[in-house]
Amino acid sequence: MLIFGIESSCDDTAAAVIDTSNHDSATEYRLLSNVVSSQTDTHALYGGVVPEIASRCHAEAISSVAEEALRRAGTTCSDIDAVAVTFGPGLIGSLLVGLSFAKSLASALSVPLIPVNHIEAHSAAALVEHREPAAPYLSLIVSGGHTSFYRVDGEFRFTEIGSTRDDAAGEAFDKVGRVMGLPYPGGAAMDKLAARGMLRESYKSIRFPSPALPDSLEFSFSGLKTAAINYIHTASARAGVKSGAELPLELREDIAAALTRVIVDGIVSKLREAAVSGNYNAIIMAGGVAANSHLRLAAENLCRELGIEFITPSIGLCADNGAMTAAAGAKLFSQNIVASSDLNAFASDERVCDYLDSLRRGR
Ligand code: KG4
Ligand code: ZN
Repeated sequence: MLIFGIESSCDDTAAAVIDTSNHDSATEYRLLSNVVSSQTDTHALYGGVVPEIASRCHAEAISSVAEEALRRAGTTCSDIDAVAVTFGPGLIGSLLVGLSFAKSLASALSVPLIPVNHIEAHSAAALVEHREPAAPYLSLIVSGGHTSFYRVDGEFRFTEIGSTRDDAAGEAFDKVGRVMGLPYPGGAAMDKLAARGMLRESYKSIRFPSPALPDSLEFSFSGLKTAAINYIHTASARAGVKSGAELPLELREDIAAALTRVIVDGIVSKLREAAVSGNYNAIIMAGGVAANSHLRLAAENLCRELGIEFITPSIGLCADNGAMTAAAGAKLFSQNIVASSDLNAFASDERVCDYLDSLRRGR
C-alpha cells in the first residue's frame, strides 16, 4: 500500500511516499520519494526557530512539497492508500499546518488518516532501510528537542525509560555553536570542528560537566550549555576579541572537541546502562543528533562490545523528514490505529501519547 507521510513539527516542511507490504508480521518499505523544504536560512537570521515565522513558511511550502513528493514517486493522489501525519510533539502552529493539509487530503481521497508521534517516527526512520528487530528493543532519540530512551514492545508500543530533565543534546550543540559563530543550526558544523580538535591532545585540558546524571537514565544539558558558553566568553575576554567567533581556530576546534566528547561520553554511558538494564534484541539510535559522526562511532563500538545489534538511519533520514512519518504510519496502520476526523495537534509528548493510547484502547 502507498502511504503519504507529512511532517511539519518544527522548521522543515516534508512529505514522502512509501510503498509498504507486510510479510510474516514484518513490514517492508520501499521509499518512493522524500522531499524536505528547509527553513534553515530564514531562521538563521534570528539564531533559532521563530515559531510564528515557521508556521507561515510551512503554509507557503506545504502544497508544493506535497506535489513534488507525488511527482517524484511517479504517483498521483488517487494512488494513495493512507495519509500519515505528525500531530505532535512540536510547535503547535507548525503542526497545525501539516495536520490541516493531511486531514483535507485524507478526507478528499476518502482514505484513512494515521496520527503519528514525531518521536516514534524518528525511530521508525531506521526501519526504512533496515529490518525491524524483534521486540523488545531499545530506542534512543537524540534531536534538537529530545534526548530520551524508550523501550519498544510489540505493536510498536513505546515506553519512555529515561530522558533529559531540561535541554536536549541538539539544543546544547546549537546554542554553544551560536556563541562560537557557527551557522545555525550548529550541530553539523560542530561535528566537523570537533573532528579536527580531536586530532590533538590539547582539547583534553578543557573540562566541561557531564550531562549524564547519576543513578538514573536521565540527562541534564543546561549546566553543560552554560558552562561551555561561559568558557567561550571568558576565553574571548582573555584573548581581547569581541565574540567566540573571533577566537583562534585551534581554540574553537578544542572547545568543539571537548563539548562533543563530554556529550558523546555522557550519552554512551547512559546507553550502556539502558542496554544492560533490559533484555533488548537491538538498539535503534535516531533523531537529528544521531547524524553526529562521533556519537555514531561510539554507539556502534558499544553495541559491538555488548554483542547487541545496532541500527541507525542513514544520515539523510536522521533529521526531520516525511519518510519517517510514513514508516511510523505503516506500523500504526498495521495495528488498526486510525485517527478520527477531530484529530488535533498537541505540543506536548504526554498529550500525544494519551491520544494514541486512547485509540489503542478503543480498537
Ligand atoms: O531531529 P531534528 O531534525 O529536529 C528535532 O526534532 O529536533 O534534529 C535537529 C538537531 C539540531 O539540533 C542539529 O544541530 C542537530 O540535530 N544535528 C547534529 C548534527 N546534524 C544535525 N548534531 C550533532 N552533529 C551532527 N552532525
Ligand atoms: Zn525531529
